[in-house]
Amino acid sequence: MATSGVKLLGARQSPFMTRVMMALEMKSIDYEVICEFLIIVQYIDDAWTNGPSILPPHPHDRATARFWAAFVDDKLVPLLGQLREAEGEDAKELVFKKLFEAFMWLEEAFINCSKGKAFFGGDSIGYLDIALGSFVGYIRVTEMMNETKLLDETKTPSLAG
Ligand SMILES: *[C@@H]1O[C@H](CO)[C@@H](O)[C@H](O)[C@H]1NC(C)=O
Ligand SMILES: *[C@@H]1O[C@H](CO)[C@@H](O)[C@H](O)[C@H]1NC(C)=O
Repeated sequence: MATSGVKLLGARQSPFMTRVMMALEMKSIDYEVICEFLIIVQYIDDAWTNGPSILPPHPHDRATARFWAAFVDDKLVPLLGQLREAEGEDAKELVFKKLFEAFMWLEEAFINCSKGKAFFGGDSIGYLDIALGSFVGYIRVTEMMNETKLLDETKTPSLAG
């Protein structure tokens, strides 16, 4: 295999991505797939140092941001998917309960990370604001379709804000 240094960015499940992967395979071009959205965000942050930094500068804060971003991807997002599949009121109630719990954790994480400022990243948008913020539209649609509040101003005021 030729060592090309080609890096392919995109979702592995995407059929468009499959076309590119097939073409690279046919040409025996060695490539590396970066299919994790958040890894791309980290790469952008490392590669372009102009503009505000996305991840916090302090190692402890960086680790915390990565931890909660993984929580969003591994816990919150799958629960939103489960809501779609849940059949019957009881099953739906259970998913809602878990979703509220997840948002309560994120509320506490927000209070800790934002240190009284407007964003997880403090004064400006950071890694966690991107990780969770990209789902706000989806969350709002879910709220409308299920006639319920997920980001509740009374239960999770900081996060809702
Ligand atoms: C709840 O929202 C999801 C979208 O995440 C939707 O697929 C589902 O049909 C909604 N449930 C009801 C009962 O409207
Ligand atoms: C927030 O900070 C407090 C005090 O340091 C800590 O005890 C708590 O576990 C933190 N909560 C979260 C969700 O990170």
